[in-house]
Amino acid sequence: MLACRRKPVPHTPVWFMRQAGRSLPEYLRVREGVPMLESCTRPELIVEITMQPVRRYAVDAAIFFSDIMVPLKAIGIDLDIKPGVGPVIADPIRDAAGLDALRPLVPDDVPYVTGAVRGLVGELGATPLIGFAGAPFTLASYLIEGGPSKNHDRTKAMMYGEPELWARLMDRLADITIAFLKVQVEAGASAIQLFDSWVGAVAPEDYAASVLPHTSRIFAEIEALGVPRIHFGVGTGELLGLMGEAGADVVGVDWRVPLDVAARRVPPGRALQGNLDPAILFAPWETVERRARDVLARGRAAEGHIFNLGHGVQPSTDPDVLARLTDLVQEASTEEAGT
Ligand code: CP3
Repeated sequence: MLACRRKPVPHTPVWFMRQAGRSLPEYLRVREGVPMLESCTRPELIVEITMQPVRRYAVDAAIFFSDIMVPLKAIGIDLDIKPGVGPVIADPIRDAAGLDALRPLVPDDVPYVTGAVRGLVGELGATPLIGFAGAPFTLASYLIEGGPSKNHDRTKAMMYGEPELWARLMDRLADITIAFLKVQVEAGASAIQLFDSWVGAVAPEDYAASVLPHTSRIFAEIEALGVPRIHFGVGTGELLGLMGEAGADVVGVDWRVPLDVAARRVPPGRALQGNLDPAILFAPWETVERRARDVLARGRAAEGHIFNLGHGVQPSTDPDVLARLTDLVQEASTEEAGT
């Protein structure tokens, strides 16, 4: 929390995107026979899965176990998360009539979220819980394409060719995202992260015209809740400045842009989060250590730094490497703070 606010910290805080999940044998055990989306509706399972990496790694934050598609499922969109594929939508939204499927989200749609966050806050004690949601562009891409997409062609076609329909779709998604984040913060989450994972596909001018107004509205509405806001996307090197203007306190950076360079791209008053390449965890430990120390050193150029990977933990990652990395970051940055 201190790092998000760009205040002095005892050590650089560290957590990992997708720290819960398939890289952990204890996750695979409790998920056995339970479909992904169902697991997100069972508070006791959400609490257990969220706690698993906290127990194993002593990371400085927990991330709520859920998925960016959960609020859409909760308002009645017919969708599934297929293992090894990702979210799949039965009836993609491609015209004005399709928008009717997107009704507002109310807290009663997601009682399991409220219940699980409350339970977690009790169990976590001083460890902060990060709530999260998907940002409108990334959600729109799944809804329009009907599933995962490499180029987001139909999504961009609507953005370029039907700007009014696009704006109405983005507005509705922003409302749902705001409501979903509020539920988590009101139940006790101490920070939020907005994932715009696929927005790196958009050029800066189009981002400014067709995406930024919606993400800015989300951050503005969450501001009143008083919790730090983190904003992350993949392949967003050219967008970091604009993403920093959207209103988040922390900008997440993938592994493509060194943090000292990223620090010059975001406006003043922002902390950075990132950005070790998740694939480095497959290299020998000496390489992991050298690259992690480099991330820490470059992170000192930022006004605040939260250590993370540049994207989520890969399922085949060895949890022991993440444990060692967590210790390294906490110890190496303690030494630095003392010098
Ligand atoms: O530990 C955490 O980070 C919290 C849990 C979390 C999940 N999804 C659980 C999950 C978070 C933060 C997400 C967000 C999410 N979901 C994003 C944004 C983050 C990112 O990675 O860029 C996106 C794009 C999604 C959509 C989604 N859901 C994808 C692409 C997949 C992977 C599909 C696959 O099988 O490869 C999912 C499924 C999913 N969400 C899993 C987990 C642990 C794996 C499902 C399983 O265990 O069977």
